[in-house]
Amino acid sequence: MKIIVVDNYNELSKTATDYVLAQVWEKPNSVLGLATGSTPVGLYKELVKAYQAERVNFSRVKTFNLDEYFGLGAQHKQSYAYFMQKRLFGETNFKSENINIPQGNTLNKEVSGYCKNYEQQISKAGGIDLQILGLGQNGHIGFNEPGSSFNSLTRLVDLSSNTIKANARFFSHLNEVPKQAITMGLETIFKSKKIIVLISGENKALAAARLIEGSLDKKNPSSILKLHNDVVVIIDKAAASKLKKNYSSPLSLVDKKFKVYTPDDLPNNKTIFVISPHPDDASISLGAIISALSRKNKVYTIIMTTGYRSFIEDKDKEQRIKIREDEVIEEGIILGAKPIFLHADFYDAKDLDSAITRDTKKFKKIREEYKPDIIFIPHSKDQHPTHQASRKVVLNTQPTFSWLADSKTEFWEYEGPWAIFNENDFNTIFAFSHDVMNVKIKAIQSQHSQVSRTRFDVAAETLAKLRGALIPEQSLAGFGKKGPRIGEYFELFKVTFK
Ligand code: F6R
Repeated sequence: MKIIVVDNYNELSKTATDYVLAQVWEKPNSVLGLATGSTPVGLYKELVKAYQAERVNFSRVKTFNLDEYFGLGAQHKQSYAYFMQKRLFGETNFKSENINIPQGNTLNKEVSGYCKNYEQQISKAGGIDLQILGLGQNGHIGFNEPGSSFNSLTRLVDLSSNTIKANARFFSHLNEVPKQAITMGLETIFKSKKIIVLISGENKALAAARLIEGSLDKKNPSSILKLHNDVVVIIDKAAASKLKKNYSSPLSLVDKKFKVYTPDDLPNNKTIFVISPHPDDASISLGAIISALSRKNKVYTIIMTTGYRSFIEDKDKEQRIKIREDEVIEEGIILGAKPIFLHADFYDAKDLDSAITRDTKKFKKIREEYKPDIIFIPHSKDQHPTHQASRKVVLNTQPTFSWLADSKTEFWEYEGPWAIFNENDFNTIFAFSHDVMNVKIKAIQSQHSQVSRTRFDVAAETLAKLRGALIPEQSLAGFGKKGPRIGEYFELFKVTFK
């Protein structure tokens, strides 16, 4: 669950709007799950504004509302159908045939068939891409009241007395509040590909704390969201007031597709391996993050090959190995990382497979000794044979059923100037400033024998600068929108857990 704490309701609405717009821009025929109540009112206002400014086209978007009061027809002023028409649909270009809201005036005897059909319509549309949720004070989502089964589907439910009281504010008398509703079930909601929960105001602080920091519990229906792998909670400070941990991170406001790290919020207290196929790959590709990580972690560069095949004038093999290893030691001091030389057999091997098997054994021994939490490896599309063989050696040491293991290793795949990522190849950004870049350049320049041939220092600086200049604008904030500057230089990674 990703938690975005914002200052106030206005910010909450704007942040939620960014998510909805990004979804519709990316997939113009998206299926949206929509909520009513007070919380999404600001979001709908912003969406209407975006539509009026011709920033978005809803004509192909399909919608499914979460719920409707049982007994109220669409014309009733307190029905959710009326709410949606007034707040959003009537002000934008959603097509009526694409709008689905449970029909409150369905006959009692037809309700169960009606609910089954609602489920089928959602499946037929391809499932919900993005579901918007509010949160009840009692932890309900939709009208799934405490005690609802986590496997529940769309159905007729009794409203709890707490909910009836909370919603009485919209009716002239408590007696007028319907006692039942048709609601999507917890399983229906859970099947959505992405879920955004909006939580605003002090009266939601307890429910928010139970959702974010409490345990999985049938008495708290919202707790099912803890099991979902793509939930974003956008919460204002008042509603976050009872949270124990501090979640606020201004960067997450723009962090849509990527996790963004700066030197101050990197992982700490970890053991980290950086796989460097050649002696200079580590500094050239990820020297910046190594230097930042080494402040609070134990970082080891695993130098896979001696790199002697690289030409150094008037020197024989042994001399080249010595030169390159000395350079690595110099570099290690600058970056704060300790080199370990693997001397991989595959570098000279005629029979590559058997050499890789031997190298796997060697690496396994080191891995078992140090037990790294994080391993940096060249990315999968990096075609250089030495990089590929290095990757293979490392991945060979993964246990067969690694997904069953208690603790998983984080693999950070990195790019280099000779094998750069395409747009969808990375999910993590390390953003840093000039001083960190300078350390990286110094580290690269300690590989004197290489930099004198090819200006890897210039290549690495140019790439980091290009990444830093382009990505905030294009990808963090959305096309055509202004993104904040979060560090001049970037290194990019694809982080996976294996
Ligand atoms: C509305 C819905 C409810 C509300 C919740 C919070 O469609 O399903 O779960 O999201 O009751 O309501 P407000 O936003 O009015 O505090």
